Amino acid sequence: EGLRELYRRAQSGGKPRPVETPVPAATAEPVNAVAVAAPAEMPAHVSASGGTKAERLASLRTQAENWAPAKTLGTLRETMVFAVGNPDAKIVLVGEAPGFQEEKEREPFVGPAGQKLNDILKAMGISREEVYISNIVKFRPATPRQTTNNRKPTPEEMASCLPFVREEINIIQPACIVALGGTAAEGLLGLSGAVGAMRGSWHEFGGIPVRVTYHPSYLLQSGAN
Ligand code: URA
Repeated sequence: EGLRELYRRAQSGGKPRPVETPVPAATAEPVNAVAVAAPAEMPAHVSASGGTKAERLASLRTQAENWAPAKTLGTLRETMVFAVGNPDAKIVLVGEAPGFQEEKEREPFVGPAGQKLNDILKAMGISREEVYISNIVKFRPATPRQTTNNRKPTPEEMASCLPFVREEINIIQPACIVALGGTAAEGLLGLSGAVGAMRGSWHEFGGIPVRVTYHPSYLLQSGAN
């Protein structure tokens, strides 16, 4: 409900929010950050058009490019990174937000976490091309003087982009959704706490069963095989 309220606020044209840490004027805005609100005529609801699943997903991608509720926050970078994968996937994997490498290649999970995810899928006997890989937030969260460093998206940032992942899942109708990490679980399911406590049971999003599991970055950091 908290995320919904934040999303409603973003839709009703909330003022751009400053980045969290005050920095000197010359560097106050990250180079790639969006400082200006999107035009008022930009629609703030997601609606997929087209006949096939691929066409409907493509129409969402176009809408995401200038998504006013995300842009007006002023805390996200400007390059939109949508999703990748099979429109008929049985499994949809949802991460938190693109990082440095994902922004560069405009594709989710292509950096070290993506390599780990590919390895996990391979070990399961599944190829990357069979699944659909998305993120809750479609823009890389900005930080002052940002280089290759990434940060977790805030609840406001997740709420602003949640309509996309909801509609992507509605179009694909997978058998199962996998939330990658605690932030994705928070954004999708409103859960907080340890992933270890969430991962042993089924959850639900838009009528589709959800499993929560560790984020590949966490597995890399913790040295898990
Ligand atoms: N982490 C995520 O959550 N998503 C990506 O696309 C890359 C890293």
